[in-house]
Amino acid sequence: MGNLRFLTSGESHGRGLIGLIEGIPSGVPLTSADIDQDLKRRQGGYGRGGRMNIESDHAELISGVRWGKTLGSSISILIENRDWKNWHEGMAADPAYTNSIKPVTRPRPGHADLAGALKYDHRDMRNILERSSARETAMRVALGAIAKKFLSGFGAHIGSYVVQIGTQRSAGSNRQSVKDLIKTFEEAERSPVRCPDPDASRKMIRLINKAIKSGDSLGGVFEVFVTGLPPGLGSHIQWDRKLDGRLAQAVMSIQAIKGVEIGLGFGMAQRPGSEVMDEIHYRNKHEIRSAKYEKQNSKSEGGLETGFYRKTNNAGGLEGGMTNGMPVIIRAVMKPIPTLRKPLMSVDIQTKKPFEAAYERSDVCAVPAAAVVAEAMAALVTADAFLEKFGGDSLKETSRNFDSYKTYLKKF
Ligand SMILES: Cc1cc2nc3c(=O)[nH]c(=O)nc-3n(C[C@H](O)[C@H](O)[C@H](O)COP(=O)(O)O)c2cc1C
Repeated sequence: MGNLRFLTSGESHGRGLIGLIEGIPSGVPLTSADIDQDLKRRQGGYGRGGRMNIESDHAELISGVRWGKTLGSSISILIENRDWKNWHEGMAADPAYTNSIKPVTRPRPGHADLAGALKYDHRDMRNILERSSARETAMRVALGAIAKKFLSGFGAHIGSYVVQIGTQRSAGSNRQSVKDLIKTFEEAERSPVRCPDPDASRKMIRLINKAIKSGDSLGGVFEVFVTGLPPGLGSHIQWDRKLDGRLAQAVMSIQAIKGVEIGLGFGMAQRPGSEVMDEIHYRNKHEIRSAKYEKQNSKSEGGLETGFYRKTNNAGGLEGGMTNGMPVIIRAVMKPIPTLRKPLMSVDIQTKKPFEAAYERSDVCAVPAAAVVAEAMAALVTADAFLEKFGGDSLKETSRNFDSYKTYLKKF
């Protein structure tokens, strides 16, 4: 990340989460309501644990915004933890409260607990789990909402939907038409598991109920899309400029995400090249305008009407590390939630004795929420690449640069 930088801070049961983002131009309309709606989406989804009932997240804009518009300075956000009142001694900064709660000495398999304790020399693994917890993703979603707001002013739309929970799959979208993607997204928003197919949704809920009963947990697969981007974001020039790599890293960095694909992804392995590459077609100015092509446009997209278009989108909108004008499609797999009611074996780091891990209130499935977090990460990386290409200290300046590129593309 170069043009847009962000950091998050905060422990799961600390006072709250703090986020800071720098590089958003001045003049972008922004209110805390823009952020809160995504925070709410992250908190939802069938299969969440008790915590989600305690927390009703609200983003307080602390700096960088005045009278509903960004100033161009760093934007900082505070999300308070509602149950701080129960933890203000156990998580206090003040040494007077040392040892006010029992240390955590039993590492949970699938968590950062043991590796973190060894690395940071902690004998109380609360010092690790408080930060490794996915509570941190609330702030990523908040910062991502700012990036989304910025990008939406340029016609980009970011969304996600769940395509698999446990063994239950759903078809998802055809991935090449903006209209279809947005329709799929809207259908997913109505589902308790954020899956666009109502029949698959019901079956997914049944699977989650089964996991709840048996004390187990479930993972799954979701897709994130970004539509409306111009060709040429990212670059083929160096490894760290390639947008596919940057998006994959950002999504992989989300807690419990273990695989990321772009476009057809792993599905490319079993097909010959002739069935994978998206052939390039062209339509001229008059054809673009004609109703015939408007209609065709609902099945295939070219991006900002350059004239070049594809009938398929197996590449997921990225070729050579650059956007090609087609919708960007990212798919990711989330592992099952590691905290289980059904005991897992571990070893106490103090006594070195084996034990069955104790159960703490936990999600059973958080794939729908992880998809919302991935939207935020995709938005942040995309906004960074957008600013890299178009620059601008004010929204007006970015718009001028963007419009000039659009004019150039039309003449290309
Ligand atoms: C939105 C979301 C919610 C999560 N909720 C829980 C949870 O309630 N309990 C749990 O044990 N893990 C949960 N996780 C997963 C863990 O945070 C994650 O598996 C753990 O930090 C270890 O990191 P790793 O899986 O990336 O290696 C959640 C992850 C996400 C993205």
